[in-house]
Amino acid sequence: MVRKNLNTKTPRHKENHLEIKTDILVIGSGIAGLSYALKVSELASVAIITKKEKAESNTNYAQGGIASVVGTDDSFEMHIQDTLSVGCGLCHRDVVELMVKEGPERINELVEIGVHFTRKQNKFDISREGGHSRNRILHAADLTGKEIERALLEKISEQKNITIFENHFAIDLITEHHLKKKKSSDEKKHCYGAYALDEDENVVKTFLANVTMLSSGGAGQVYLHTTNPPIASGDGYAMAYRAGAKLSNMEFIQFHPTTLYQSGSPAYLISEAVRGFGGVLRTTSGEAFMKKYDERESLAPRDIVVRAIDTELKKSGDEFVELDVTHLPSEKIKEHFPNIYKKCLEKFKLDITKEKIPVVPAAHYVCGGVVTDVLGKTSIENLFACGEVAMTGVHGANRLASNSLLEAVVFSHRASLGTKQQLQQKFENVSVPSWDESGTVNNEEWILIEHNKKEIQQTMWDYGGIVRSDLRLQRALRRIEFLREEITEFYRRTKVSEGLIELRNLVLVAELIVRSALQRKESRGLHYTTDFSQTDETLLGDTIIFKKEEPKEF
Ligand code: SIN
Repeated sequence: MVRKNLNTKTPRHKENHLEIKTDILVIGSGIAGLSYALKVSELASVAIITKKEKAESNTNYAQGGIASVVGTDDSFEMHIQDTLSVGCGLCHRDVVELMVKEGPERINELVEIGVHFTRKQNKFDISREGGHSRNRILHAADLTGKEIERALLEKISEQKNITIFENHFAIDLITEHHLKKKKSSDEKKHCYGAYALDEDENVVKTFLANVTMLSSGGAGQVYLHTTNPPIASGDGYAMAYRAGAKLSNMEFIQFHPTTLYQSGSPAYLISEAVRGFGGVLRTTSGEAFMKKYDERESLAPRDIVVRAIDTELKKSGDEFVELDVTHLPSEKIKEHFPNIYKKCLEKFKLDITKEKIPVVPAAHYVCGGVVTDVLGKTSIENLFACGEVAMTGVHGANRLASNSLLEAVVFSHRASLGTKQQLQQKFENVSVPSWDESGTVNNEEWILIEHNKKEIQQTMWDYGGIVRSDLRLQRALRRIEFLREEITEFYRRTKVSEGLIELRNLVLVAELIVRSALQRKESRGLHYTTDFSQTDETLLGDTIIFKKEEPKEF
């Protein structure tokens, strides 16, 4: 039976108990989690936990937009074909079809809740990005993610059934393992909620839920250079793996071709829409080098552009290539990319209408993730996933630009339908032990966390990045395994903190990426290895990875 009237509406600062009961627990506050929460709040009580402020998510950094078929010269089949072609044989066609065909309806819903997409003469102003054969990117100037997040949060603030717990960092999903319950080998695992660190009160709370939604975003922070904010430490992949969920295709890490050289961390993104608008990639000596690599030139899919940049940099010894928009009308650039223009001018003293933009690739998006069906259900009962953390099958070996926000809205809607089904079921009444921190101390050596994090990021950048080989991956694996042992030891004897939880997750996700990459003995999409430089059609299939034994520490 669904638990009724579970009051999660207590303001966070007044809470004095450590166990929170809710019908639905949502982990993460990006577009996927918020859209889902909004829909399921009609069915039941919802608690959203987010490790920072509610608006801090990968969504917020998405500049380009959301792809959908709205143009008169476009068709569902064209969008499907572009997605499949960029995904290099690994997309699940049936799932891609669902996403593309349900896209326009979800876009209308976003408009209804108040998202202001840029329009021209009353029509959506649709732009183009790499791999798209038509203009189909709806955008809100060059801050699309921020605009969607704003509208969703505004709408959510009106819902009585939703409580947002800011600064609550999920540590682990609660399964039979925590109940010390013996499960027969053919029995499915269940998720009963999550333990989360309340960072303000410095206590670990138990969130009990009938349904848990994992929408915790990506893992760009595994790499030294990334467009992702510091929160993107792969928490969802790590929690799901530890809980025993099935993950897939973790080797397919998308690097964005154009981030502003030396713009710090996170690397400042120069949206692909800039190339869609006519921007041209050049070497520092002025050559429009993409001609040599792909007939679509600067608008080729990201994997192709990134490898071309990598090759050119290795050849020339330069530290960056250049993105040139100086040939385009400066007023139009300012109109289409007001924030990129302003940020480059004010923060980096670069007038992009007059000077070329120095750019380098950076880790951007994880195409694999926690395997779900088309209703968002994972391999663990009562655990759903959506957004970047999920592997629905739409991205295959490489994601088509601006399909990520689309995937998030389409599959969060579908997950709300799956949840509706799930809530009809009878739920077990379980007694979950509270967090046990006996035997742990407040370790003073916090600097070790920072050192370990840098080691992971450097290792992954050097040996698990754009161009791989077995030698490099084995080198990465040895280092990551060693770090994981060291971090496990540290975790066992130390009270949990934000830095420690992230470190534990980062090292595990790094290992999942490397192990998955070692399994794939071919080059396909985003996974390029010099040992197997060709695609091997006999190896067409997803890489599956899951924990075979009962979770211990990792
Ligand atoms: C961009 O604006 O280039 C990022 C959009 C995306 O990753 O799909």
